[in-house]
Amino acid sequence: MQIVHSIAEMRRLRRALPGTLGLVPTMGALHAGHLSLVRAAKQACDHVAVTLFVNPLQFGPKEDFGKYPRTFEQDCALLEAEGVELLFAPAVEEMYPGGAETTVDVPEVGSRLDGASRPGHFRGVSTVVSKLFLIATPDRAYFGQKDAAQVAVLRTMVRDLNFGLELVVCPTVRDADGLAMSSRNRYLSDEERRIALAIPRALASAKAIATQGEWSAPVLEKLLTETLSEVSGLQLDYAAVVDPVSLLPLASVTQGALLAVAAFVGTTRLIDNELLSAEEFTESTTAVLNLAEVLSR
Ligand code: PAF
Repeated sequence: MQIVHSIAEMRRLRRALPGTLGLVPTMGALHAGHLSLVRAAKQACDHVAVTLFVNPLQFGPKEDFGKYPRTFEQDCALLEAEGVELLFAPAVEEMYPGGAETTVDVPEVGSRLDGASRPGHFRGVSTVVSKLFLIATPDRAYFGQKDAAQVAVLRTMVRDLNFGLELVVCPTVRDADGLAMSSRNRYLSDEERRIALAIPRALASAKAIATQGEWSAPVLEKLLTETLSEVSGLQLDYAAVVDPVSLLPLASVTQGALLAVAAFVGTTRLIDNELLSAEEFTESTTAVLNLAEVLSR
């Protein structure tokens, strides 16, 4: 694997690559979720490049930029084992030599969910991802569904700025206990991890209740909020049932919905979500109608 630190070198290597390029942007501290993105990119693209950059622009002043896990050697070994050809790992001075006067903002979608709790976060994400897209010019870029609000913001950005690439969203990868994989999970003590498991449990049960016929988004949102507010040791940031594209509130979930949660366990902020697709409701509506028909015979 070639490890590249300079933008000029990354551009040069990219230009020399024949065929399609899949890009997997990361902040390192890689886990199986990141590797699932790499595998998806390898399946669909001629070449795969990973970027590793802990982007200061997307961290608030009181957030964990300083202590964000940095495991460069281990990350390189994992990527080598996956057969990644190219790793772009620039320093902060390479990416922001004159600071960051020019930024990319998606002000409406970017101010919802995590954007509301972390002002400026998505401006940092959109700016760095735009720069990575301009440097690497990928044909496809891979992101995890766990970061559902980030996906909504980046989709809007790719559409509005005509990046001309396909944004591919891969399913959330979970540990055996159900916790969504995240580089920040390593901050959790055993006890905090046990508490954090309330999040995937609450989401899964809200999803099950929805598919069994409770289609009201406000009712599901209230259920999630009440369930998670009662968990001792967990501080709910938000529980929301929204449109997965606009992140706006919904009346009903039958056209598809995002059930999303953010919560602090100790000082660690965790996010997770479940997607409800419209097809699930077409099928379950048909099942309910079929049952009603059987019962009326
Ligand atoms: O999802 C992440 O790890 C980061 O937000 C990203 C997309 C690599 C931008 O820094």
